[in-house]
Amino acid sequence: MEFNKIFAAVLLAGIIGMATGIVADMLVSPEPLKENTFKVDTSAIASAAPAAGPAAAAIPPIAPLLATADPTAGQALSKACAACHTFDKGGANKVGPNQWNLVGAPMGHKDDFNYSTAIKKKHEEGAHWTYEELNEFLAGPKAHIPGTTMTYAGMKSEKDRANLIAWLRTNADTPEPLPSPDAAAPAAPAGGAEPAPKSGG
Ligand code: HEC
Repeated sequence: MEFNKIFAAVLLAGIIGMATGIVADMLVSPEPLKENTFKVDTSAIASAAPAAGPAAAAIPPIAPLLATADPTAGQALSKACAACHTFDKGGANKVGPNQWNLVGAPMGHKDDFNYSTAIKKKHEEGAHWTYEELNEFLAGPKAHIPGTTMTYAGMKSEKDRANLIAWLRTNADTPEPLPSPDAAAPAAPAGGAEPAPKSGG
């Protein structure tokens, strides 16, 4: 007697389960997928592999971007530097040196600022703040000049760096001429010496 009741209950549960399944199927009418909804783009994995090599650290030249850079946007970006730098003529040195007449100037361009040994060495080697040197320094100061005391993580966006550098150059008695857009960094000799004058141009 008791067993029959249990058996009936289990049977009923089974029937309800089946019926629910059938009704659910009718409601959503599943169709077999023609292709996977989640496409796994394996080409991305393949193309990402070479970038993991040493070439990943290379920073493309900024010259092509400077031609269309926006100094006004650059001035706004300089807020990231203002805690440590002034940019006006005769401005005080703070944690970092004043930046008037910076672009094109020798590295360690202020006589009255106590630079790190790393920057002093660059100065002695005759290195200059060319557009490309600035670009690489601002992308990652410590990566570009190991030993610098500038504790700034770096500006990752290439476009931001172009805008900022375009503004930096305006803070000068005589702003450096903009580089020609196709002037690539590798043309400059190592050490950042002034580029040789072009013959017949
Ligand atoms: C936390 C403080 C700090 C911040 C923020 C900072 N700097 Fe500096 N900066 C320094 C110090 C300190 C030095 C001197 C580095 C050395 O001697 O190694 C320096 C040096 C420099 C130099 C070299 C100057 C020369 O005369 O050779 C440049 C160029 C420069 N900073 C640009 C910038 C720009 C542009 C920003 C903003 C994006 C910035 N810095 C943000 C502290 C800072």
